[in-house]
Amino acid sequence: MTTIAVLGAGKIGEALLSGLVQAGHDPEELLFTERSAERASELVKRYGVVEADVAGAATRADVLVVAVKPQDIEPLLDELAPVVDRRTLVVSLCAGLPTSLFERRLAEGTPVVRVMPNTPMVVGAAMSAISAGRHATDEHLALVERLLSSVGRVARVPEAQQDAVTALSGSGPAYFFYLVEAMIDAGILLGIPRALATELIIQSAVGAATMLAESGEHPVTLREAVTSPAGTTIMAIRELERHGVRAAMLAAIEAARDRSEELGRAHQDD
Ligand SMILES: NC(=O)c1ccc[n+]([C@@H]2O[C@H](COP(=O)([O-])OP(=O)(O)OC[C@H]3O[C@@H](n4cnc5c(N)ncnc54)[C@H](OP(=O)(O)O)[C@@H]3O)[C@@H](O)[C@H]2O)c1
Repeated sequence: MTTIAVLGAGKIGEALLSGLVQAGHDPEELLFTERSAERASELVKRYGVVEADVAGAATRADVLVVAVKPQDIEPLLDELAPVVDRRTLVVSLCAGLPTSLFERRLAEGTPVVRVMPNTPMVVGAAMSAISAGRHATDEHLALVERLLSSVGRVARVPEAQQDAVTALSGSGPAYFFYLVEAMIDAGILLGIPRALATELIIQSAVGAATMLAESGEHPVTLREAVTSPAGTTIMAIRELERHGVRAAMLAAIEAARDRSEELGRAHQDD
């Protein structure tokens, strides 16, 4: 069994550990590092996974999953540089950090795979996009695909598309939360109690998402099926169009892509 070490078991790191345990991975082969002793003992108790330090993790693990915040990467790279060798696959979940950063700082030839996950990983429904660095092979990508499929779906993308992916699926859940929040407000405006409005909208979102995922139908087809001539839905659609909601969505996602590019530039090759 592959030994995996998660470096920085915060929200995303814990979600991955939990998904791997639920998928049947032996917890004894799942290591993690954490800064807070209290947090570490919580994780050991909850999942039976093994706490390690960075050097110990690098020695034992076949795969090192880097899950610290991008702003915490420098000290971790300093710790990793002397202990990682080219037999270890490094998987980065850090938003905006290019594979070239890891390749520059770690032993020559170290295989690196970059992943853009999203928060539904905590409920096993992540969308993760993975890209190979210069030394990562097809087998490395297949291994990462296998690991991440225990916490959701996985797509392969060229690294050049990672900023666009960040804007689409990385930030994507936030757009849906925002929409749900606005729809609940509309329910309040119409005099529906908050708890009921919340239930109505969340279940509509779950139902719509399940139809999209399971029917294989285009979203336009599904929307047309509930849009009858001179009916209620078309009146709402007219208002959405009048307020430029589609154009706002395009501009919003483009702005998120631009910001992701800007954040990444700080870590590009000198
Ligand atoms: N959350 C998202 O929506 C999302 C989506 C896509 C990608 N990501 C990426 O996933 C990564 C993790 O995000 P997150 O939301 O899980 O962050 P998080 O909850 O802050 O988790 C990071 C964890 O790493 C620990 N840590 C930091 N430096 C460490 C070190 N040198 N050694 C050991 N542990 C260390 C932190 O400890 P302290 O608490 O003590 O600082 C924290 O527990 C980020 O790079 C982010 O870009 C997140």
